[in-house]
Amino acid sequence: MSKVTLNTLNAYKKTGEKFAVLTAYDATFANVISNAGVEVILVGDSLGMVLQGHDSTLAVSMDDMTYHTRCVAAGNEGALIMADLPFMSYATPEQTMTNSAALMQAGANMVKLEGGAWLEQSIAMLDERGIPSCVHLGLTPQAVNKFGGYKVQGRDEASSERLYNDALLLEQAGASIILLECVPSKVAKRISQNVGIPVIGIGAGPDTDAQVLVMQDMLNIPAGKKAKFVKNYMAQASDIAEAFSHYVEEVKNGSFPSEEHSFK
Ligand code: KIV
Repeated sequence: MSKVTLNTLNAYKKTGEKFAVLTAYDATFANVISNAGVEVILVGDSLGMVLQGHDSTLAVSMDDMTYHTRCVAAGNEGALIMADLPFMSYATPEQTMTNSAALMQAGANMVKLEGGAWLEQSIAMLDERGIPSCVHLGLTPQAVNKFGGYKVQGRDEASSERLYNDALLLEQAGASIILLECVPSKVAKRISQNVGIPVIGIGAGPDTDAQVLVMQDMLNIPAGKKAKFVKNYMAQASDIAEAFSHYVEEVKNGSFPSEEHSFK
């Protein structure tokens, strides 16, 4: 795969071609995932749950994130690498600059932050300093204690309006990508149609510009019940590489996610 950059993703936004995103945390999987045609690898702080065994992402440190970003960068073959700023590593604009610089120096091409309008100044400062950012809205797992669980967001008029306004404001501030997690499909559709930057969805229905899944979830590891928005790509695949390619194919042709993986 030729190297994916923000220009590639912006061109997809214009032409309507969808793109695929998967999490990875090490060189081996980064290599297989990028060779399968996944355009963006997310070094997610979900590693706190799937690698470290915690029940939330809150324990993940900057050292964890720089270490795993370096591992992913070592195995990657051309995908764009997005790395998460972990819990409380971007509480102030100053912290955001220092910690984003560390992720970029570890091999990330952009950083991801969870939040809303309060991120405006940090996003503008990142943009001015040449660091592209993705803003994660909706169900932001670092705020699980505030939400009282992993719950669908934006179901009522006031909260869906807030999500919409936050997306517009943060695009204006300089965000390069928006990621929407666990929001009703129609809320995600409205945002995707009204911003000029790519929108990645997880549990956000079929109308976003891209989809992301946690790699272990879509490989059905550990086997068993998963969130509504997860599809088990190992069910029909003879090996892991085939599962990744099938995921890319279904994101591109729009058959994933279907209604059964979406929230009304
Ligand atoms: O950390 C992560 O893997 C994420 C995805 C769930 C979007 O933020």
